[in-house]
Amino acid sequence: MNKIIYLDAAASYQKPESVIRAEVDFLSNKYANSGRGICRLATDVDSMVLGARQVAAEFIGAQTESQIVFTAGTTDGFNKIAHMLRLGANQTVVVSDLDHHSARLPFVMSGANVVVAPLDDELNFDLNNVPYADVFVITAMSNVIGVQQDVAKIIDAAKQKNPNVITVVDAAQSVVHSEIDVEKLGCDFLCFSAHKIGGDTGLGIMYIKNPDLYKPVVFGGGMVNRIMDNQILFNSAPEVYEAGTLPLTQIAGLVPAIKNIKANRPDLDLIKYMYDEIEKIDRVHIISKRDSSVLSFVVDDMHVLDFGALIGAYGVCVRVGNMCASWIHQYLNIAGSIRISVGAYNSLDEVKQAIEYIKEILK
Ligand code: ALA
Repeated sequence: MNKIIYLDAAASYQKPESVIRAEVDFLSNKYANSGRGICRLATDVDSMVLGARQVAAEFIGAQTESQIVFTAGTTDGFNKIAHMLRLGANQTVVVSDLDHHSARLPFVMSGANVVVAPLDDELNFDLNNVPYADVFVITAMSNVIGVQQDVAKIIDAAKQKNPNVITVVDAAQSVVHSEIDVEKLGCDFLCFSAHKIGGDTGLGIMYIKNPDLYKPVVFGGGMVNRIMDNQILFNSAPEVYEAGTLPLTQIAGLVPAIKNIKANRPDLDLIKYMYDEIEKIDRVHIISKRDSSVLSFVVDDMHVLDFGALIGAYGVCVRVGNMCASWIHQYLNIAGSIRISVGAYNSLDEVKQAIEYIKEILK
């Protein structure tokens, strides 16, 4: 059997040893619930959660850890935001065809008036044609095209149309490749998932610029300060937005994951190398750019699922299909695509081997 070559970091990143060790250590030696107990084990977990929040805040340039809300992932964050904003048909939410389903669908389902921002010829936000928005959803990097958008400029343009616009950034892909500074971006909300940066699944970060402005949308334990007769006093942020037990094991892995991704970003020269090699194959049409964070393409006369199965038989893991990003595929008039993405753990030898298999399949 061939050795597995995992070229699907954009779907989920392989875990560094430091993350695995931290989670095993937490489960084996340090486990208790947080925010509830007063024994030493429990208060140590409270410190661990606070420390992870501080590191996450620093990672994205937030001012305080109370702006950092733990969610179940980017999807959960976007669903929460759409509910927190209590939108109706008289509000306009601007989205774009770069969106992942999780960034747009919660706003579509909210009943708000949804307007699609135009893209330019390079598939970037068209900064000269930014529509009026009450809420502006900005995909910082498409999971199919892999190009960093100029989020700060998009926000400036949106603010020129409406100074009170609420801006919501999907950083699920961009956080892997570039440093984020929410203060410089000037966004109101920003979400990403731990598993895309080498942390665990089931944990996301939702940054809220003004955490005391909004009402919670999920209710339960851990978010209540006191209940007296019919009077309910909620905790302040971030706990008010975190009803129920937190994903503590995943939080235990967050700090090593952040340290690791900061020190070892994926080597995008591997993507350029593949681009140059795969571009030469007659039947291949590349839809991403040479300097993108991913390599996405289609093949003449071959369904993307067939390609996925054939390369999968060689032990190479890539993503095929609509990537949960139907709109960009509709925009490009294709049903789906094949996407190759790398983590810092991938090597040139792996990439060269995968190219040989692709040539073999398409010869
Ligand atoms: N959003 C993830 C991807 O692009 C799952 O593959």
